[in-house]
Amino acid sequence: MSLFHFFNKNRQTLVDVDIHSHLIPAIDDGAKNIERSIELILSLKEMGYKKLITTPHISDMFPNTSTIILEGYKALKVELAKREIDIEIEVAAEYYADDHFEELLSKRDILTFGKEKYLLFELSYFTPPKDLESLVNDIKLAGYTPVLAHPERYLYFHDGIDDYINVKSMGVLFQINLNSIVNYYSDEVTKIAKQLILYGLVDFIGSDTHHRRHTKFLKESFSHALYQKVFKNNTILNDTLL
Ligand SMILES: [Fe+2]
Repeated sequence: MSLFHFFNKNRQTLVDVDIHSHLIPAIDDGAKNIERSIELILSLKEMGYKKLITTPHISDMFPNTSTIILEGYKALKVELAKREIDIEIEVAAEYYADDHFEELLSKRDILTFGKEKYLLFELSYFTPPKDLESLVNDIKLAGYTPVLAHPERYLYFHDGIDDYINVKSMGVLFQINLNSIVNYYSDEVTKIAKQLILYGLVDFIGSDTHHRRHTKFLKESFSHALYQKVFKNNTILNDTLL
């Protein structure tokens, strides 16, 4: 253990598994190239993560397919082995809930993680979904467990905690971004993240790492008082995926 680690022991991650990141190079708005990818992975490893489940976007803007993602993943694993970087990497995706997603769902062309077939999905930040309940039902009927990425970031849910309780009652699990607790996004998002934590509505935490700024803030989140509260008030499932 380096001196740096010794003095920063309390600043490291309390979970071994991260379930949300964009580490496969050049297929979305995450790591731009393999060097950046490696740099971000090393940084997460330094913080104490043992397993990274990386989740490239599948959306209009980033029209990835399972094949593109799996090929990128394979190439990344080869590179990690070549450089003798010892960290477990798995792959899934972050699905933007649109018509294309419904199509993939009906074909069961979905990348998931864990035995429960967790499916990470995101919504528009600004426009409320037309019929979230039927979408969630479709996900469940297809045999997957829905995990909503960063619920704290959807502006139309910000009026109170009731909308969140309602979404959870549909059987949706919540993954908050750790950077939300250190005010990376906005005061409003931080406020909502805090409420979700205090109400015990959080199931997973994620780094949502795209670039260096994210890992910089992530390190700060570990020493924030709310980080301890996450574990005190919620049953966090990350390490069931080890
Ligand atoms: Fe993401």
